[in-house]
Amino acid sequence: MKQRVLVTGGAGFLGSHLTDRLLAEGFSVVCMDNLITGSTDNIAHLAGNRDYQFIHHDVSEFIYLDGPVYAVVHFASPASPLDYHELPIQTLKVGSLGTHKALGFAKAKGARFLIASTSEVYGDPLVHPQPESYWGNVNPVGPRGVYDEAKRFSEAMTMAYHRVHGVDTKIVRIFNTFGPRMRLNDGRAIPNFMMQSLTDKPITVFGDGSQTRSFCFVSDLIDGIFRLLQSDLHDPVNIGNPLEWTLLQMAEAIREISGTGSQIVHKPLPVDDPKVRQPDITRAKAELGWEPRVDLNEGLRQTMEDFRRRIELEKVGA
Ligand SMILES: NC(=O)c1ccc[n+]([C@@H]2O[C@H](COP(=O)([O-])OP(=O)(O)OC[C@H]3O[C@@H](n4cnc5c(N)ncnc54)[C@H](O)[C@@H]3O)[C@@H](O)[C@H]2O)c1
Repeated sequence: MKQRVLVTGGAGFLGSHLTDRLLAEGFSVVCMDNLITGSTDNIAHLAGNRDYQFIHHDVSEFIYLDGPVYAVVHFASPASPLDYHELPIQTLKVGSLGTHKALGFAKAKGARFLIASTSEVYGDPLVHPQPESYWGNVNPVGPRGVYDEAKRFSEAMTMAYHRVHGVDTKIVRIFNTFGPRMRLNDGRAIPNFMMQSLTDKPITVFGDGSQTRSFCFVSDLIDGIFRLLQSDLHDPVNIGNPLEWTLLQMAEAIREISGTGSQIVHKPLPVDDPKVRQPDITRAKAELGWEPRVDLNEGLRQTMEDFRRRIELEKVGA
């Protein structure tokens, strides 16, 4: 019998890539997803795989599955700013009720538990780069508060289940990640720049573009998460690429790779937009032997190919 992993949010961008890795490593996977921001396109290639099962379910409601479970990986949550602005209550519910249900399920099964947290727990950081020991600078009532506070709550709940019930929990703080299968209209910087370049529209950069982000290619991130899942760490671990880019640099790189003639135009900065973001990955390096390996230009090229293919499919209505 293969060991079974429950992946909530498994039809999303990251959940589907993690599923592929788990299947490749010899696990069986149950995906639980209500498709609120995910898509069956991300898991269509798994149809007919005997080690894979999809269950359409809102994990803010009671979770039940027969039989043993090795691990619960809780990835369900709207993740892009566009999504959590549109779905603020669902975001708070899946971070709070959903995390509680997923932890309760892990406890009942004696399964290990890993939660996808985020660099957003650091808010607009006053410490740079951000180590896990930094407590953050978050506006709880601002437009981003629904996501940031949901994730901060879910970290607190996860540690409570570890301390009170002895559940073997792990917390990954994911920094901006990109790669194939990101939604074309996801609203985050890289998909925006790619869509605009590939459709020859103006490339919109918020503010003067000097705000920084650190972008990690998806295969690197998944490798860090897989290592963390198998570790005996319980404290949060940052996984991300410390290489810092300004958004203007990223827009220029994407414009060049796409070969478009699109111009870069500037728009006002959104409220509470973090000015800097860079992971301190000392802990991941020391404890997991992990660091990013994929060259970012190569990652951008792979992502661009995937976007180009999907835009073509949309054009022919497939
Ligand atoms: N992509 C990133 O750069 C990034 C950065 C930091 C943290 N994260 C975290 O990683 C996780 C996955 O993010 P993603 O980029 O793959 O987003 P995504 O939107 O592609 O995937 C999220 C999945 O969760 C599902 N979902 C949402 N609410 C649900 C509910 N109540 N019940 C069942 N399923 C539900 C969605 O349908 C979707 O398939 C999220 O928890 C997100 O907060 C992502």
